[in-house]
Amino acid sequence: MVYQANPARYESMEYRRCGRSGLKLPAISLGLWHNFGDTTLLENSRQLLHRAFDSGITHLDLANNYGPPPGSAEENFGRILREDFLPYRDELIISSKAGYTMWEGPYGDWGSRKYLISSLDQSLKRMGLEYVDIFYHHRPDPETPLEETMRALDTVVRQGKALYVGISNYPAELAAQAIDILNNLGTPCLIHQPRYSMFERWVEGGLLNILQEKGVGSIAFSPLAGGQLTDRYLDGIPADSRAASGSKFLNADQLTEEKLEKVRKLNAIAQRRGQKLSQMALAWVLRGDKVTSVLIGASKTSQIDDAIGMLANRHFTAAELAEIEAILV
Ligand SMILES: NC(=O)c1ccc[n+]([C@@H]2O[C@H](COP(=O)([O-])OP(=O)(O)OC[C@H]3O[C@@H](n4cnc5c(N)ncnc54)[C@H](OP(=O)(O)O)[C@@H]3O)[C@@H](O)[C@H]2O)c1
Repeated sequence: MVYQANPARYESMEYRRCGRSGLKLPAISLGLWHNFGDTTLLENSRQLLHRAFDSGITHLDLANNYGPPPGSAEENFGRILREDFLPYRDELIISSKAGYTMWEGPYGDWGSRKYLISSLDQSLKRMGLEYVDIFYHHRPDPETPLEETMRALDTVVRQGKALYVGISNYPAELAAQAIDILNNLGTPCLIHQPRYSMFERWVEGGLLNILQEKGVGSIAFSPLAGGQLTDRYLDGIPADSRAASGSKFLNADQLTEEKLEKVRKLNAIAQRRGQKLSQMALAWVLRGDKVTSVLIGASKTSQIDDAIGMLANRHFTAAELAEIEAILV
């Protein structure tokens, strides 16, 4: 059956201006890092995309290496895009990235002009797109001159292969330099994509202020700490969870008793607020006005519904924030 998007899809989502750009992003964006590779059933990936778009999630975040195997998330997304979403292409903000290991040899990794431009060409082919909306440098490269990497980002915009560019995982000072270089080149940095959650707060040490001062948006990845900031692990490790999947990013060793104790206490506050812990964790990242969008992952459509449900209860009292702070320190 041909996919028909929900006519009410724009009714519940909030769209927030990305820095001082013309672009608005949904308060919640969906990442395709997990659950879109060849190890996942295509039909499940398709359902996740349908549910996201039907809920007003217009921003989908990819990278060259998402899978497994690397590249397969872009390929599978490309197929679903072709089959279901082509009439909606102009309603979507699709991003990709290059910066981590993608192919063998010295030109398939880090931040050279050679790597970034050829990687984006490959991503476009895999997704069947003429351009991406946002192209990121995925992580800083300590060896390539920052000028070269930023010039490559400027080039892909001038070539029409990306509408906007961004940086990810850049520490505050380096981000400031990259943003200045891009401004001088005439291709402003749209967005920074850092990891940010109740459990990972390095961005509060300066990055978010720099981005705000410079008019650059921010999208917080892994706002649920990969699922730790949910009720997923309160009663052990479910067989279908990320922690049970052999992931090197989330495993049983990380779910320490100390951490679970914090999760239990946070969960009690969320319950008092009449929401799930996952919803409170997302609302917390969006508190204040420094983060443009939270970039979630999902293995089930119900998890997307949970995230959307957060929008109905996003505000915290000063007492709640202090109570959460006392748990997190
Ligand atoms: N720039 C970078 O370097 C970088 C790095 C990492 C990620 N990212 C981006 O950020 C996106 C999100 O990362 P992430 O997947 O780590 O984000 P996350 O939102 O912190 O974690 C998502 C996982 O949490 C669990 N979950 C979600 N909602 C839940 C709910 N309501 N109840 C219980 N469990 C729930 C699910 O895991 P289960 O599988 O257990 O169901 C889901 O896959 C990625 O897809 C990618 O686009 C970027």
